[in-house]
Amino acid sequence: MADDVFQNPEDRLGLPGWTYFNDELFELEAEQLFRRHWQLVCHQNDIPEKGQFTTFDLVGERALIIRGEDDVIRAFHNLCRHRGSRVVTEESGLCKKAIVCPFHGWSFNLDGSLRSPARPRSLPDLDPVEWGLKPIECEIWQGFIFIRFKPGPQPSVKDIMAPHDDLIKPHHLPDLMPASSPHLSETWDVNWKAIRDVDNEGYHVPIAHPGLQDLYGKDYYDFDLTGDTSVSVGNFNKTPSHLWSVRNYRNLINNLPEPWASLPKAWHYVLLFPNQVIGFYPDSIIFYQDIPVTTGTSQQRSASYARPDEDRVTRAARHLAARIDEITGIEDMHLIEWSYEAMKSSAFDGIMLSDLESGVGQYHNRLRQMFPVMTCKDEPAERTVKQINYDMS
Ligand code: FES
Ligand SMILES: [Fe+2]
Repeated sequence: MADDVFQNPEDRLGLPGWTYFNDELFELEAEQLFRRHWQLVCHQNDIPEKGQFTTFDLVGERALIIRGEDDVIRAFHNLCRHRGSRVVTEESGLCKKAIVCPFHGWSFNLDGSLRSPARPRSLPDLDPVEWGLKPIECEIWQGFIFIRFKPGPQPSVKDIMAPHDDLIKPHHLPDLMPASSPHLSETWDVNWKAIRDVDNEGYHVPIAHPGLQDLYGKDYYDFDLTGDTSVSVGNFNKTPSHLWSVRNYRNLINNLPEPWASLPKAWHYVLLFPNQVIGFYPDSIIFYQDIPVTTGTSQQRSASYARPDEDRVTRAARHLAARIDEITGIEDMHLIEWSYEAMKSSAFDGIMLSDLESGVGQYHNRLRQMFPVMTCKDEPAERTVKQINYDMS
């Protein structure tokens, strides 16, 4: 939407291909982006009982988010203070009274403090707090649990999301109930930025996503990346939809009970920089998140949440929305793989972004500001990426 997004005509050419393949750059991204920016883990109602937990792994970090005996939700490194084992091994579950490490059996209280090492007389006296699980910064925003592995440049999630209060408030987010708890996709053989590039624009919707085009394709907008968010909105078409799922979805949306009937007939997506999108639908709330695994492999993590008092019409609408989203996801997966593969071709010579892909351009600009080395056309010599980036910063 901004006139100045491509002020520098070169910015239409995208990030250089090497930035999608370089392991040293990936390490920089892991450290500066993924460890130091907020990550959405789940909703407080994913872990409603004392002792219930969920885990979250990202770029070599492992988090455990658990509800204590005092009902307080805390985040810790999932890392035993004895020898570093995971203290819980499942993706989610319930710890009754204590967290017991599967390696030698050290146990920790639900507030993270050391409860008892195994065979304590074989060890010196250990202070329960000093030798407790290491805490991770945690913020609960509107019921959603965010963590940050290391301090970073972003303000609180509350402040980041404040510009969207009017959009958010009518959805009563703290009351949501999990419809499908966060789960990981299969591993895709792509760099995480290739996923973001496809997701950051709607220029491809009319051709690549018949379902979305039928739902809102004539009235879709991407707004600027300002602060740490950008919004995209698809207002449902004024004309009738043709596809069975979309037509029925819109019928159901027209018959939602209040207060959901008063929500805009639209899908809003809020990108929370750098790698997660929260979707606000009249029937449900979703999120998805890019999870970099290695330079050339990634996963997507996603979940959906239902209204607490969901009636049959809203539930049916939510199922149809999920179906439309699922098909969209499959369509996108191919686009992501093809554009990533292209960068390995001898013919690849950069890209050419349309004004309608300003979201991609703005995102690249943000990355170039954070990682000036990304402005180098040619791949720097081995073991020089960090130094060059540092010198240019
Ligand atoms: S590593 Fe956890 S008890 Fe030994
Ligand atoms: Fe798409």
